[in-house]
This record gives sequence, C-alpha cells and structure tokens, in this order.
Amino acid sequence: MEKTIRTIIDRYDGDKGFLVPVLQDVQKELNYLPREALDLVSSYLDVSLSRIFEVATFYKAFSLTPRGRFQINLCKGTACHVRGVPLIIDHIERELHIKEGETSEDLEYTFETVNCLGACALGPVMVVNEEYHGQMTIAKTSRLLKKLSKESQKSKEGKS
Ligand code: FES
Repeated sequence: MEKTIRTIIDRYDGDKGFLVPVLQDVQKELNYLPREALDLVSSYLDVSLSRIFEVATFYKAFSLTPRGRFQINLCKGTACHVRGVPLIIDHIERELHIKEGETSEDLEYTFETVNCLGACALGPVMVVNEEYHGQMTIAKTSRLLKKLSKESQKSKEGKS
C-alpha cells in the first residue's frame, strides 16, 4: 500500500494543494479510502487527518468503506421506476446475492440505486463503473451481469 500511495503523491509532486486529486487517485486504485492510506496521505502531504476526513466525507464520490471493483448504479427515479426498475433490482439482488446498498464479500460488486442519472429518456438506466447502459430489461441486465462475472473470473484466475 505504501508504494501505491507514494506513486500517487509523486504524481502531484507532493503538493498539498492537490489533496482532492490525490484522494481521487487513491480511491480509483483501491476502490475506497482505507484508513491506512489516509494516514500515509496525511504524513506525505503534511495535511492533518481531520482535514482529510473533512474532504473525504464532503464529496459523495469518496467512500471510506470497501467498495466492489464493479460499481453498479441503477436509477430508480420516476421515469425509470415506471419502466420496470423494481424487477431489475430483484434480479440483481438475486444474481449477486447482495442487497441494494451492499458490497459483495469478495469485493467484486457494489450495488446501489440513485434517484436520477440524467438520462431519463433512456430509462431504465444503469451505470457500471461510469459506463451508461440504457433501456435496461431483465434480459439485458442478465447479459451484462454474465459479462461482469466472466471478467471477474478472469481476473481472479489471473491473480491465482
Ligand atoms: S429517472 Fe432515471 S435517468 Fe432520470
């Protein structure tokens, strides 16, 4: 972890003015902001831990708890809801064995719902790691989850 944080800090020449981009890079690398990483950022950038927590809790994009490698956000705003989102939520929960708002134990998936993703005409809309998928159905969701599962399997095999 130390090497990862050092590399990120060096990217910004250790300049404390870049605290937000540094935290964004840490989150991108580790999928969340572990306490150990924040301690290192604090000492390398010479910024107090309380200031770091202030920033980390202010921005919604930061997470202090572990998140999955695949972050699935499903819109349940009105326009999407009326086009079958409740059934898609059930489907995802069954397939991934996690509930809305949870992260799988193997840290592969985080499933969350949001109120509007700003693409209502394409509803139901799902975003997986910033990639938008529109007009989602159970069948399309199934195909997408299969694809993610294959990627997950591949990366697990690559690690072993
Ligand atoms: S209500 Fe779903 S994208 Fe707006």
